[in-house]
Parts: sequence; structure tokens; C-alpha cells
Amino acid sequence: MANPRELELSEDAMRSLVDEATRRIFEHLASLPTQPANGAPEPRALEALARSVIEPLPEHGEDANELLDRLFELVPKSFNTAGPGYLAYIPGGGLFHAAVADLIADAVNRYVGVWAAAPALSQIETTVGRWLADMIGFPKAAHGLLTTGGSMANLVALVTARRNLLPDDFLSARIYASDQVHHSVTKAAVLAGFPRSACVAIPTDADFAMRLPALAAAIDADRREGRTPFCVVASAGTTNTGAIDPLDSIADVAARERLWMHVDAAYGGFFLLTDDGKRRMRGIERADSVTLDPHKAMFLPYGNGALVVRDRETLRRAHSVAAEYLPDMQGDPELVDPCEVSPELSRDFRGLRLWLPLKMHGASVFRAALKEKLSLARLAADGVRRLAHVTMVAEPQLSVLAFRLDLPGLDNAANDARTKDWLAKINGRQRVMLTPTTLRGRFVIRICVLSFRTHEDRIAMALEDIEATHREVVGSS
Ligand SMILES: Cc1ncc(COP(=O)(O)O)c(C=O)c1O
Repeated sequence: MANPRELELSEDAMRSLVDEATRRIFEHLASLPTQPANGAPEPRALEALARSVIEPLPEHGEDANELLDRLFELVPKSFNTAGPGYLAYIPGGGLFHAAVADLIADAVNRYVGVWAAAPALSQIETTVGRWLADMIGFPKAAHGLLTTGGSMANLVALVTARRNLLPDDFLSARIYASDQVHHSVTKAAVLAGFPRSACVAIPTDADFAMRLPALAAAIDADRREGRTPFCVVASAGTTNTGAIDPLDSIADVAARERLWMHVDAAYGGFFLLTDDGKRRMRGIERADSVTLDPHKAMFLPYGNGALVVRDRETLRRAHSVAAEYLPDMQGDPELVDPCEVSPELSRDFRGLRLWLPLKMHGASVFRAALKEKLSLARLAADGVRRLAHVTMVAEPQLSVLAFRLDLPGLDNAANDARTKDWLAKINGRQRVMLTPTTLRGRFVIRICVLSFRTHEDRIAMALEDIEATHREVVGSS
């Protein structure tokens, strides 16, 4: 007979479990710089491994150490997203502090969904949101809601905008975003109930930023044809190239046309901590809502996003639904019940993940790390620009750059194939992992510098590999 009391581990058993886990974690973290940049270069080759974890619900337990051993065999067989060579997609981070914050939050398991259940703990989360609002330059009435990521933040933003500005019948509404906007915005619009045709793609200029005359023309055309311009989504750091839309001018259009202005700053937003970022994102403080992703440029582990709104009441109007079994909600504007301003009721104590590292180091260390990323991206661009027959398709506006080969005598398709081959050779060296994208129909290689573990030595390695493989690829032309 199984013993129900077994679920309450003894102190010795807890200590041993944590010690065994941390021993393996520390070994793993120490090996990150020497692990291959991509531990799953041919995912199909790992199919048997992936299938080995498809199993029925176990009826009986297994030895914890054996389970941990097995888990840590699986971990490296994946993209080395936490390592210094991960310059792919938008790198995450994985500050260890956040893991400790999770251990504490999960072990004490207090309830932060309503203020009354854990006043000071839920206030920590509101305070973290306040810091984000202050960073943007929002007024006192603002609120920062912590989500699980940027996609969820974009979804909550569009639902909030819809519930504040549109009637129940909103099918004629139109949402404008550049042709470079992250696909999560389109997904959010569809999940928020809009037809796919509600999303209007505005063309971009040579720097991949939204073209204002095209935005104005689209709004005019929609009004003339009886549709309802309602929301503009500006990007502050696109995924493809890190492009920043002209936020201040878009804010003028939004004010004139009475549109909700949302800024997807999931990637770029935290660069507001730097002078350069602040200058480039001027006007963001005029938005109605802003998406930020602490699991990108605040280096937290995956699962940490944020939506910051100019006016907390807009969130409340969109989300507040009363129930008899809940305690009284707070009336004081500074004391927020997270469940009243978000889709969630029960939630993890996610505020602690950001609170702990920010309190331990202060914003200055994050600012320094972000400045370092900006200069590393410029260093990488300088190295790439020197190479023959390379077109810099996107210079770093923040910490992303994009480039391709344009060999004379080859047409676009052949050059694209050659660029693809170049990328495979760079990644084949396994010191960095880069990913491609398609820009205006052409295959390009991207570099995104964002990990707190990436420093000058790794960019030097990246450039060594880029240059050596460039010789191989161009030499064979
Ligand atoms: C600009 C931008 N917006 C939104 C998202 C979606 O964020 P998440 O992956 O946290 O859901 C991303 C993800 O890379 C992004 O780069």
C-alpha cells in the first residue's frame, strides 16, 4: 500500500534532492562555454531519445538520483540557449537568481493572485511592474502586469484595447502594424476575436521601419470604406532586424486618429536603460501599452514577459469580473489585486524572478550589460562588413544585424543558396549558433547579441568562424 505521507519529504530528503540537483546544475553551467552551440543540429537524429520519454503514467516511483542523471543527459541535446555562443533568434538568458527565486516561491507557495492573501508578496510584484512603467516613462496611473512571455502580453494588450475602445460588434475594426511585426501580434489579434483581415500590414522603409505615409493612407482608405481604424502596433526592435518604428510620429497619428497605440518592445524595450536605446525609442512613453520580455533583455529564464499599460483602469475594465467566493478586492489604486487586471487567477509568484536580481545588483549592472550588447553587435557588424561580396542588409540599430552574400555573376537564388551554405558552415563549427531569416524575398544570416554570457571573446570566435567559412564559400565561387 502506498503511503500518502510519503509526499511530505523529510528535511534530509529535501536537502539531498536539492544538493543532488544543484551539483548537476553547477557542472552543467560550468560546461556551457565548451558545450556545442547547438546540441541538436539534426533533430531527427534525436527522435529515438525524444520517443524514450513518451511513457504511460508511472504507478510506482523511481530513484531520484537516477531520474536526475537521466534528465541531465537529455539537457545538452538541445540548442545551447543559455550558452555564450547562442546568437540565434532572440537569445534568452537564464539568470541563476531567478532559479533561486523560483525555488523559494514554489517552496513557500503563497498565493499572490489576490492582494489580501499575501499583501506584501503581491505588492512586490506590483512594485516590479512599477519599475518597468517608470523605465518607459509612464505616469503614476500605469501598471506593469507580469505575463509568461511577449506573446501573452501582446494578446492581453489587444484584448484590453478592444474592450476599452470597441463595441461588442467589432468586426469592422482594423489593426495596423508594419510588415516586420512579430507574428505573435497577428496571432493575438485572431485570438482576441478579430478576423485575419483586421490586421493591415504597413510597408517598411530601407531600415525596416514602418512607413508613416503608408500608415496614414491605410487609415484614410479604411475610414472612407466604412471600416473602423482602432489600433496601431509599433515595433521597438523587430525580430528580423531589430528595427524600431518611428514611435513619436506614430504616437502623433494615434492621437490624431484616436487609435490605441501598442508598442511591441519584447526584444528592444529594456534597452531603454541605455542612453542610446532611450534616444532611439523616443515616443514610447506616449503609448497606451507596451510589451516587454524580461526573458530576453533582462536575461531571465524563459517564461517571463510583461505588459505595461499607461492607465491601470484600462486593464481593470477589460478583466474585472466579480465572484462571491473571492475576498474583497482593493480600492486603493496602489494596492492591486493581480487577478483584477489580468486573465489569470491563481498564478506563480513570478515577480520574485525579476525582483531578486534587480535588488541584488541594481539597474546599473543591467544597464552595463545592455550597453555591452550594443557595442558587441557593432563589433560583429564591423567584422562582417569587411568581408568581400557581403551586403549588410541591416546594420545594428540595437543588437541585431543581418547580412548576405552577393557574389558577382550569380543570380539571387544562387546567392541565397551560397549564403545558406555559409550559414551551415559557420554553425558547423559549433562555437556559435546563428539563424537565418528572409528579408524582402532574400535569405539572410542574422546575429543577435543578447545573452548576459556573451562577451567580446565569443564575438571574436564568431568572427573567426565567419571569416574562415567565408573563405571556403567565396573561394569556391
Ligand atoms: C518582437 C517580438 N515580439 C514578441 C515576441 C514573442 O515573445 P515570446 O516568445 O516571449 O512569446 C518575440 C519573440 O521573440 C519578439 O521578438
